[in-house]
Amino acid sequence: MPRHLLVTGGAGFIGSNFVHHVLAQTDDTVTVLDSFTYAGNTSSLDGFPANRLRIVKGDIADAATVDPLMAEADAVVHYAAESHNDNSLEDPSPFLQTNLIGTFTLLEAARRHGTRFHHISTDEVYGDLELDVPDRFTEATPYNPSSPYSATKAGSDLLVRAWVRSFDVQATISNCSNNYGPRQHVEKFIPRQITNLIDGIRPRLYGAGLNVRDWIHADDHSSAVLTILDRGTIGETYLIGADGEKNNKEVVELLLRLMGLAEDDYEHVTDRPGHDLRYAIDSTRLRTELGWEPSYDDFEAGLAATIDWYRAHEAWWRPQKAATEAKYAKSGQ
Ligand code: NAD
Ligand code: DAU
Repeated sequence: MPRHLLVTGGAGFIGSNFVHHVLAQTDDTVTVLDSFTYAGNTSSLDGFPANRLRIVKGDIADAATVDPLMAEADAVVHYAAESHNDNSLEDPSPFLQTNLIGTFTLLEAARRHGTRFHHISTDEVYGDLELDVPDRFTEATPYNPSSPYSATKAGSDLLVRAWVRSFDVQATISNCSNNYGPRQHVEKFIPRQITNLIDGIRPRLYGAGLNVRDWIHADDHSSAVLTILDRGTIGETYLIGADGEKNNKEVVELLLRLMGLAEDDYEHVTDRPGHDLRYAIDSTRLRTELGWEPSYDDFEAGLAATIDWYRAHEAWWRPQKAATEAKYAKSGQ
């Protein structure tokens, strides 16, 4: 039986990838609720028929907008957030408003209407790990966020847990590692370096470039979320990851090689304050209990396809590029 899904933040990077995934893989219909901040892009949702996808421009923190959409949905998948750590260091206030008040507003509406709720979160709620140790994050790792962004995501997770326990909201949570793939904003690490290279600018590595991220393709994140929506246990948290640990220097060197340039042709720039050292996900629970497996097991091939996407879609990213770089230039990055 096809469902009607409310997808918040569906015009952003991972939300739009989820909408593409759902509309291709299921008969579900989707309403996207997105306020179109600098990170939302209507053309990320081009080409779908009106009987499968409706787009509503509105703020998740506005109860009057949220309520009727929640009432008609079988489930909400909540991606909308302020998502960029560097921005949260410049001005935390929109992060508190959207990530905390916005999530609270959605939870209250889900509580009123009994709507199934899936909350999208991040591995950053767990803080960071040492380099070169076998430890990875699990569902039992204590919360220890470092940045205003990750602190507000941690707070939003705790709100969801409290609404499950106190009000019986039918919610699940997933915490995923760093995503890459098409339609990611040029402020983020991989698209920033790809589009810099297209423009003849050297890649920018924060500090020594030894920080490790655990990369997963956005489409694998989407298939995991759909699996949890279908088969997850209410009240539970699932970690999503695809065993993709790489340090930033390795990623930049690979990008340079794939784009036909010398692997040492990059610059070290001012480090991010409080920069988390390493993230790593143990996704055993999702794999063993729900039977999920990632499809993208070749990071180099996934990155090459991502480079091709940015080369072919300059009209998508070009309008954001100059303002993004101007912002980075102010902080020496
Ligand atoms: P993004 O910044 O690309 O997109 C966020 C979207 O939310 C945009 O379309 C924006 O317009 C919308 N939005 C922001 N504030 C809103 C508001 N008040 N009301 C309605 N819409 C609003 O972010 P992303 O990278 O796609 O991340 C999506 C979600 O996934 C976030 O919750 C993030 O914490 C989580 N996440 C991201 C990653 C990653 O690697 N990018 C990894 C794990 C989890
Ligand atoms: O782990 C999941 C998180 O991944 C998500 O919750 C966040 O929404 C998402 O933005 C991402 O956070 P990061 O801070 O890890 O991603 P970012 O793309 O900003 O940076 C990735 C790494 O690259 C990080 O170690 C900082 C570094 N970096 C980033 C930029 C933009 C550079 O070295 N140079 C750069 O120019």
